Amino acid sequence: MKIISVVGARPNFMKIAPFIKAIDKHNSNSTNERIEHILVHTGQHYDTRMSDNFFEALDIPEPNINLEVGSGSHAFQVGHTMIAFEKVIHQHNPDWVVVVGDVNATLACSVTAKKENIKCCHIEAGLRSGDLLMPEEINRLVTDRLSDLLLTPDFISTQNLINEGVSQSKIRFVGNIMIDTLEANRQKAFGLNIIKILQDNLLEGAQQFIPARVDKIALVTIHRPSNVDKKEVLEQLLAFICDEVTKELLVIWPIHPRTSGTIKKFGLWDRLIKTKNLVLLYPVGYHEMLRLNMDTKIMFTDSGGLQEECCVLGTPCLTLRWNTERPITLREHGGASVLVGNNIERLRAEFHETVSMERIPTRPELWDGHTAERCLEAIVSYIE
Ligand code: UD1
Repeated sequence: MKIISVVGARPNFMKIAPFIKAIDKHNSNSTNERIEHILVHTGQHYDTRMSDNFFEALDIPEPNINLEVGSGSHAFQVGHTMIAFEKVIHQHNPDWVVVVGDVNATLACSVTAKKENIKCCHIEAGLRSGDLLMPEEINRLVTDRLSDLLLTPDFISTQNLINEGVSQSKIRFVGNIMIDTLEANRQKAFGLNIIKILQDNLLEGAQQFIPARVDKIALVTIHRPSNVDKKEVLEQLLAFICDEVTKELLVIWPIHPRTSGTIKKFGLWDRLIKTKNLVLLYPVGYHEMLRLNMDTKIMFTDSGGLQEECCVLGTPCLTLRWNTERPITLREHGGASVLVGNNIERLRAEFHETVSMERIPTRPELWDGHTAERCLEAIVSYIE
C-alpha cells in the first residue's frame, strides 16, 4: 500500500508526527504488508520557526516533496497547491491521500485526490463551528464531503457527520491525534526552564526585560483574521492585554507573523513593545509552548489546538472567538475553556473569574495517546 500524507501549516505538524510513527511501527512488524509512505509539505508555512523547528523537535522526517506554495490569498494557496499536488499524484499514484486538520493544504489536496480518483482519509473530521466566515470551516466542509474515510476526534464530531447524512460506514471515532503528540512530549517539555525559553525566544527589538523569577504568567496567542485583520478589534484586544492583564500577571506572547504584521500596519507596534510586564516572543517551538502552557495561570487564545491542549492540561482558557468547532473543550462539556469572542466587557468579566481558577485536567474519550494507531488501522482495514 502506498500512502501520501500532506502537511502545510504549523498545526498540521503535531498531527502528522504520530501518524508517521504508527506507519514505522506497522512496517517494523515483518508479518504486515509494507506501507510505502510519501510526506508532502505544501510549503504554506515556511519560516524556520513556523515549520522546520517542528520537524526537528517532533522527529518528523524531511518531507519527500515540498510544493513551496508560500503565502498568498486563499485562492492563490489552494490553486497553486492543487496544480503542484496533481503532478505528485500522477507521478506516485498512491492508494491513499491522508490529510489532517483544516488548513488550505487539507482542502487543496483532498479535492485534488478525489478528482484523480484516489481514496482520501481525513484525520480530525467532523469538526464544525457553523461559521462560514472562517476559512477553516469551508476547508472542513469540503474535505469531509469528499473523503472516503472520516476519522473523528470526539462524539460530537461523529454526530455532526451523521447529521449531515454521511454514511456511518465511512466514519470511525479514533480520538484526538494531537494528544498523542502531547503525551509523547510531555516529559521533555516539563524539563524545560521557563526563563531560558523567554531568553532564547525574545523578539528582537522588543523593549521588555525578562524578570529573574517568573511567578504568575498569562499566555497569549492570537492570529485569526477575525481578531487581527481589523484595526478596531485588534486595538481593543491589545489595550485590554497591555493595560489590564499586565497589571496582574506577567504576559507572555509568542507572536504569529500575521499578527505582528497587522499590528505594525495599524501603527500599534510601538505601544506594544513598550508595555511593561509583557514579554514578546517569536513563535515558539512545540515543547516550549507546552511548557509555558503547563505553568500559565490563564490562556488567552483563538487557536483550536491550544483549546484542546488546555483541556488535557486543565489550563483555564479564554477562547477569543464567538464559536468553536471544538465544543468538547468548553467548560459545559467538562473542558477548561470558555468562549469570550472579542467583546472587552465580557473578556474582562471572564478574566477576573477565570484567573483564580484551579487547573482541572480532563480527558475526553479516546484522547489517550493512541489515536494514530487507530487511524492507521482504519486505513489498513478499509474495505470499499
Ligand atoms: C494558517 C491556517 C490556520 C492556522 C494557522 C496556524 C488556513 C486557512 N489557515 O493561518 O487555520 O490556525 O495557519 O498558524 O490554512 N507568514 C510568515 N511565515 C510563515 C507563514 C506565514 O511570515 O511561515 C505570514 C505571511 O505574511 C502570511 C501570514 O503569515 O501571509 C498568514 O499566513 P497563512 O499561512 O496565510 O495563514 P495563517 O494565518 O498562518
